[in-house]
Amino acid sequence: MINRRGLLTRIVQGFTITGAAFLTYPFFKAWIPKFENDLSLDVAINDLHPGQSKVVHWLGRNLFVHRRSQTELALLDTSSDSTREKLKDPNSKESTQPNFALNQYRSLRPEIFVVYNNCTHLGCEVLHEVGIFKCPCHQSDFDGAGRVVEAAAAPINLEVPDYQYISGNRIRLLQTV
Ligand code: FES
Repeated sequence: MINRRGLLTRIVQGFTITGAAFLTYPFFKAWIPKFENDLSLDVAINDLHPGQSKVVHWLGRNLFVHRRSQTELALLDTSSDSTREKLKDPNSKESTQPNFALNQYRSLRPEIFVVYNNCTHLGCEVLHEVGIFKCPCHQSDFDGAGRVVEAAAAPINLEVPDYQYISGNRIRLLQTV
């Protein structure tokens, strides 16, 4: 049978052990190898003025991050039949992108476009000109939202990665596969 003194001693011991565990946890945590596989990458976009872009290397591929100008935004209107007829996949139904990019801009916010730089034919790096992308290998053309034109060798639109805004001027590229 435990007397009062013994019970008190056990309670104090319990608190001491718990406190010591809390205090030493950060120390031991630093020695334990990390098993999380966080491959996300943060990209600043505050240095991009309208019409400017940067190429970001991520997970072995190059991504194009571009701030569209008003002129480029105006070129992305796919509401007319004649424009839609020129595109292979105007609504990006056959193409790869997150759900938030299923719009005429193929982006979360119209002014910022994020896209993988590889042509969907044989993977060559595409080149950007105002309002369009061009593949130098077999001359596939894409509009400013990476939508492939009807006559191109590339079968689908350029791939848009998953990402989110973590502040007004910073995006986080996310690996969702
Ligand atoms: S690799 Fe781009 S058109 Fe062939």
